[in-house]
Amino acid sequence: MLGSLLFGYLCGSIPFGLILTRMAGLGDVRKIGSGNIGATNVLRTGNKKLAAATLIADMLKGTVAVVVAREAIGLEAALIAGLGAFLGHLYPVWLKFKGGKGVATYIGVLLGLAPMVVIVFAVIWLGMAKLFRYSSLAALAAAVAVPIALYLYGRPDIGSLFVVMSLITILKHHANIRRLLAGTESRIGDKG
Ligand code: G3P
Repeated sequence: MLGSLLFGYLCGSIPFGLILTRMAGLGDVRKIGSGNIGATNVLRTGNKKLAAATLIADMLKGTVAVVVAREAIGLEAALIAGLGAFLGHLYPVWLKFKGGKGVATYIGVLLGLAPMVVIVFAVIWLGMAKLFRYSSLAALAAAVAVPIALYLYGRPDIGSLFVVMSLITILKHHANIRRLLAGTESRIGDKG
């Protein structure tokens, strides 16, 4: 099981947002906007394609970790690899353990374990984003909805993993929550 955790962690620890923005000659994404390495902050460079690529790559590293572990070993290993990938994104050894907030990798892990519930995430995220135009608020709402949806959908076997990951991602958004409450959070489309 330690092997699955380590494998997942190594997948998740690849900081695609940082790598892609550097490759595009846009410098260090940690020096703009929120300082986060995720797709929302990459979007603040003004490059939508790069933000989309970051979102997809950060998602797929979670999906790959889960699917490979499940095919090689089984569901329990997949859950551990998924948690590993999520933690790898949040605490990458390559960046002195200062990583992202985990939203894209969370979706990727969900895609590997319960693809139908990704629709719940997407509907909540898109609805909240359309209403309020805050990426963080949309992600927080979706993170609350997913564990509930998993239990309603009859997947309590993977529900606990998402309760844990939702709690961690909510905690990682503490600065966003403070800015939301203060009315200073930047909206989707605002430049960094
Ligand atoms: O996915 C991260 C998002 O919820 C918030 O990103 O850059 O606004 O802190 P950011």
